[in-house]
Amino acid sequence: MGDLSIRNVSMRFDLPGGRAVQALQDVSLDLGQGELLSVLGPSGCGKTTLLHILAGFLAPTAGQVVLDGRPVTGPGPERGMVFQQGALFEWMSVRRNVDFGPRMKGMPKAERDRLSDRLLETVGLGGFKDKAVYELSGGMQQRVALARCLANDPDVILMDEPLGALDALTREKMQGLVLKLWKETGKTVILITHSVEEALLLGERLVVMAPRPGRIFRDYRLPFAERGVGADLREVKRSAGFAEMRDEILSMIWGMEDEIMGRAEGAS
Ligand SMILES: Nc1ncnc2c1ncn2[C@@H]1O[C@H](COP(=O)(O)OP(=O)(O)OP(=O)(O)O)[C@@H](O)[C@H]1O
Ligand SMILES: [Mg+2]
Repeated sequence: MGDLSIRNVSMRFDLPGGRAVQALQDVSLDLGQGELLSVLGPSGCGKTTLLHILAGFLAPTAGQVVLDGRPVTGPGPERGMVFQQGALFEWMSVRRNVDFGPRMKGMPKAERDRLSDRLLETVGLGGFKDKAVYELSGGMQQRVALARCLANDPDVILMDEPLGALDALTREKMQGLVLKLWKETGKTVILITHSVEEALLLGERLVVMAPRPGRIFRDYRLPFAERGVGADLREVKRSAGFAEMRDEILSMIWGMEDEIMGRAEGAS
């Protein structure tokens, strides 16, 4: 479970006045069960569009996504999403947020309580079950969002900048948590980020996308996620090859952004 195949996916958005944006062009990628992929690329290169196609929120204009042999035609419980922020039910308790999916499916209360107890312990919020969401910090809310996603037991977890709104210290702790969940659950994980360091730390595989049209530019296999499981992430950042890789990718993305700016200036 969790074998994901993206086959020649293209997405064109038609705009008013007959114009169109080619948000994705001929994107192909195969991910095996339990792979951890991070996706990096300048703003507008189609990262969110790709994730929404994987989630089934958008149908591509060409190509298809196949999960465990079945074409994706819409949203489904085997694919869970974690958004940047604000996707929790503010008026519900932490526990009710976490067990929302199982409750909708009719899981008995005792079983739901056991499940939410276990998941909240896993994400380090054991003492916060009965708090309201608005009482929690941003980092705690993202822990709830992770627990809620896991409560549906998806095969694939899709995350769009899940840590983007957090302060540096909280973000680092959450990066450790993402690695721990990935290892413990064996789920396939795709994580979009704007941070080069985060992409290196949280990807055994890293795809760098390029814009106009949105496409896959580079596909790396990296040792850092494996090194980071249960370890101090600052040590990983100091480990062999990390700084060189970070510089290589930063230059690549700056190059793309310069090109975008150049084109934008030329166009005006
Ligand atoms: N619903 C839509 N209608 C028209 N154009 C869209 C739509 N959604 C996305 N686009 C365009 O498609 C391109 C890719 O957008 P997308 O949001 O996927 O980029 P992104 O890589 O996630 O960017 P960011 O890093 O800023 O989040 C952009 O040019 C965007 O303006
Ligand atoms: Mg985006």
